[in-house]
Amino acid sequence: MSEEHFKNVISHAKEYGFVFPSSEIYDGLAAVYDYGQNGVELKKNIREYWWKSMVQLHENIVGIDASIFMAPKVWKASGHIDGFSDPMIDNKDSKKRYRADVLIEDYQEKYRIKNQKEITKAKKRFGDDFDEAQFVATNPNIARNNAKIDEIDARLKDGLESGELHKVKELIEELGIACPVSGSKNWTDVRQFNLMYSTQMSATDGESQIYLRPETAQGIFVNYLNVQKTGRMRLPFGIAQTGKAFRNEIVARQFIMRMKEFEQMEMQFFVAPGEEQKWYDYWKEHRLKWHTNLGTNPAKYRYHDHVKMAHYANNAVDIEYDFPFGFKEVEGIHSRTDFDLKQHEEFTGKKLQYFDNERNESYVPYVVETSIGLDRMFLVLMSNALEEEKLEDGQTRTLLRLPAALAPYQCAILPLTKKDGLPEMARKIMKSLSLDFNCYYEEKDSIGKRYRRQDAIGTPFCITIDHDSLTNESVTVRYRDTMEQKRVKVSELESIISQEVSMKKLLQGLM
Ligand code: GAP
Repeated sequence: MSEEHFKNVISHAKEYGFVFPSSEIYDGLAAVYDYGQNGVELKKNIREYWWKSMVQLHENIVGIDASIFMAPKVWKASGHIDGFSDPMIDNKDSKKRYRADVLIEDYQEKYRIKNQKEITKAKKRFGDDFDEAQFVATNPNIARNNAKIDEIDARLKDGLESGELHKVKELIEELGIACPVSGSKNWTDVRQFNLMYSTQMSATDGESQIYLRPETAQGIFVNYLNVQKTGRMRLPFGIAQTGKAFRNEIVARQFIMRMKEFEQMEMQFFVAPGEEQKWYDYWKEHRLKWHTNLGTNPAKYRYHDHVKMAHYANNAVDIEYDFPFGFKEVEGIHSRTDFDLKQHEEFTGKKLQYFDNERNESYVPYVVETSIGLDRMFLVLMSNALEEEKLEDGQTRTLLRLPAALAPYQCAILPLTKKDGLPEMARKIMKSLSLDFNCYYEEKDSIGKRYRRQDAIGTPFCITIDHDSLTNESVTVRYRDTMEQKRVKVSELESIISQEVSMKKLLQGLM
């Protein structure tokens, strides 16, 4: 997928009411976006797929909805006030600011692309006999590229973890990394920037500085005991939450990929100490399955182990997706140890322990976290679904091949003409189907144009009501992906549509 495709995704998202720049009539606000009438439906359906897969399908996971504002000390305890920062570097000529680690990771990506090219070339040469695993293990060019990637990883890790940021700058200079805008290698030193937004909260005894949460997870940690006690939860158990988070991303780019205000879907899984690796492996596998269950080509996903661990984690992996601009993180799975709960114990003086009947002891549970950005997932689906399809008659159609259960509308109800009682019959069908599905009604323009508009917003079914419908209670059903049309009874519509669009069917793929 190309940069060109990415541009098409952004303009399609705007043109068809999925995503608008925030406050656009005031020329927008950098890295802040609004979801339009179709975007909000797609976003809601992704959130529902996540929530049901986590909460409804796991008897030991429950949900909460904590506030965005929290006691300011939470962020001191969690380490965000002191440690939640990105290493930034400025190019003196373009005056553009970059995340130093991202510049280096983008550089490493070139070696991965080289490897991929070697594999593709060899595949062509050897045909069906090609053994990819053996080729990757033995090819000297791939070995050299991987060694280079590993060496850069080690040096980046050393610079970041030791806090000796001059080492990161030296690495950038040695690798000859140039500013993507100016092409210049004239860099400032690398410095850390805190990502949290703060504001003031008035109280009777004056004002205090509070923060907009940079992750939803802390709302779960501070409610851990409330939920455990009132829900009589036994380990292992999870608490899930979806909601807004805020980060002062200095380098906010790539549309809704990196925003200043975004939504997270997070789950903290509390386990007995010593069990964290088992559950880390479980969630790593289960979460990837959640993604590929949507029908996306599995080759578009990969795991990426963290070089720089967040301050709370002892093991972390990203699930990355092959966006039009390369593989990037969509979701993180972190083994957070007992760091957060222990910190909250220390800062509040309150015990956050769990009494384990089987072990006959109390301890602070360990935590494995799954954390996915809803907006990034939205971008995955839009980039994957948007297609310019060449038709047999030489024309092209713009198609959004979204998973049917997540599409903004499940069906469109289209009377062939605006007269002869067709709209009345169409409205009657709409009224009954609306109880189960989000239906789109439209009677303007030719039927061909209306089909194309529905293809472009991803509606899986178009139902056309024509003159024959008035006499024999039948309609035409058109399938989005194949454009196949079938004559069916009005009474069959509900079952035909629900078979294809059901969330139940999607969730069954996870069981
Ligand atoms: N509680 C752990 C945590 O917040 P993270 O890796 O910083 O971990 C988790 O964030 C996910 O949130 C990311 O995988 C990404 O999908 C999403 N995310 C993070 N920053 C974002 C941003 N600025 N804009 C959009 N999504 C973001």
